[in-house]
Amino acid sequence: MPRKFMITGALPYSNGRLHVGHIAGAYLPADIYVRYLRANGDEVRFVCGSDDHGVAIPITAAKEGRTPQEVSSTYNAKQKTDFDGLGIQFDIYGGTHQPGFAELHAQFSQHFFKKVYDNGYFTKKTTKQLYDVQAGKFLPDRYVKGTCPHCKHENAYGDQCENCGQSLDPLMLIKPISTITNTVPEVRETVHWYMQLGQFNEKLKAYLESHPNWRPQVLNFAKGLLAEGLPERAMTRDLEWGIPVPLDDPDATGKVLYVWFDAPIGYVSFTAQHEQNSGKSTEEYARWWKSDDCKVIHFIGEDNVIFHALIWPAMMMAEGSYRLPDEVVANSFLNIKFPGKEEEKISKSRGTAIWIEEYLQMFDPDPLRYYLTAIAPESQRTAFDVDEFIQRNNSELLAAFGNFINRILAFNAKTFDGKVPAQGALDDADKAQLELLRTFPAKVADQIEQYRFKAALGEVMELTRQANAYVNVKQPWHQKKTDMAACGTTVNICIQTIRCLMTIMQPFLPFSTRKIATMLNIDEASAFTWNKAADQLPAGHALGTPEVLFKKLEAAEIFAEQNNQG
Ligand code: MF3
Ligand code: ZN
Repeated sequence: MPRKFMITGALPYSNGRLHVGHIAGAYLPADIYVRYLRANGDEVRFVCGSDDHGVAIPITAAKEGRTPQEVSSTYNAKQKTDFDGLGIQFDIYGGTHQPGFAELHAQFSQHFFKKVYDNGYFTKKTTKQLYDVQAGKFLPDRYVKGTCPHCKHENAYGDQCENCGQSLDPLMLIKPISTITNTVPEVRETVHWYMQLGQFNEKLKAYLESHPNWRPQVLNFAKGLLAEGLPERAMTRDLEWGIPVPLDDPDATGKVLYVWFDAPIGYVSFTAQHEQNSGKSTEEYARWWKSDDCKVIHFIGEDNVIFHALIWPAMMMAEGSYRLPDEVVANSFLNIKFPGKEEEKISKSRGTAIWIEEYLQMFDPDPLRYYLTAIAPESQRTAFDVDEFIQRNNSELLAAFGNFINRILAFNAKTFDGKVPAQGALDDADKAQLELLRTFPAKVADQIEQYRFKAALGEVMELTRQANAYVNVKQPWHQKKTDMAACGTTVNICIQTIRCLMTIMQPFLPFSTRKIATMLNIDEASAFTWNKAADQLPAGHALGTPEVLFKKLEAAEIFAEQNNQG
């Protein structure tokens, strides 16, 4: 029986391009997982899109003299291109304010809000808020900057201090300044709807307890926050950019939903849009989101844990008809290390990032997928070290994996006319090598099922090492001179090994493994079916033309030159 999965990647804000940190954090592990599930015959929906209502989007737009719609559509398109270029294949890439998505998304978000409202989890409250008199606007979240009350950092945003990571309220800032006009704001009264998150403390505790296998950093962080009890949170804002608050109340006029309220609903509305785009009813979304047999799995970066492990589940509890997320898979951030420099944080403003767009102008996608998985920040921060990227490409991907495949297939083309030679009589080494092909697919699957992508890739590379060791012991180029049948046996077993490596490497290196399928002359459907990994190509099967899989990389410096472009 195929299993069913709804897989999401955190919706990136559409005011910036994607860099290697985003990819390593959420999207690459999600894509590997999805590719594995598909190879395994499971039924999957893989959904993502841009988070267009982030407060930074109208701020960027105002700075650049464009509309928020223009800014968000520009970056939404760039993100889509970057994901495509890396082989990260969503079933649908939406956007909470993009044409073709905005309408259904607003409907879903407003409906969700009303249900939570009708269920009694909102309290309307008059509160004080900073107001920019010159601009005639309230200043929520990032519209105001000031000194952090916790660490005294002078450039903290109204929603969060980037220095100490504490979440803030604009009123907590010392010496606040409006980011619109740079004037000192005054305090005025306004009305907002606060969600009573505290009512879910017990239920959320039980929910977390029921998932003891989640990564410890996710569980510990969420449990830590719950121990203090969740405070009520305003789910509306005084802004023009966003989804109107759907209440028949004069106080709701001119207010929109808080971006973190509508964003996760994007996962659902994009799913519904996808159903509609494929000619079905939008109601089909329920098969993925409200079903006993479909697991919901969110892939996110570490800064999103509070929202996916606590607030979104609380929203779902308050709404009442959703299946709670089964997994919240969070990676830590990625640092960066340029040649000759210290390891540092990735920062758009300081220009210390490797942008996907630029990467893809210079290199193939698979080497990046390989390296980002090999150094995946699954339990702690790791660093993208440019020198190490080059070196591991050359010594692991090219010398160990690629060369094994290329030298065997080139040798076979010359020696056996490109046809699979007969397997013949097997000695112990041959049998042992064939036995590995029966055991490794399950080992890799086992790691992937536990979201250990780095370890899973490590298993594939271990099979690669064993294959190289086997061929070095057998030396088919010497066997050729003395014992042609034995030479055929070795080459046959190496070809079976390549067939196996192709299948289990596919989730990690989709572009190169497609080339291997062509070289082995196997159709992609059987090439990428997990339980066929140990199937054998019959003697006499004609292979395609061998081609080189990976390039040797040298120019580490090119990354350094591009690192000042936002
Ligand atoms: N835009 C958010 C970020 O980049 C992530 C939103 S994820 C979702 O941090 F749950 F809201 F969809
Ligand atoms: Zn601080």
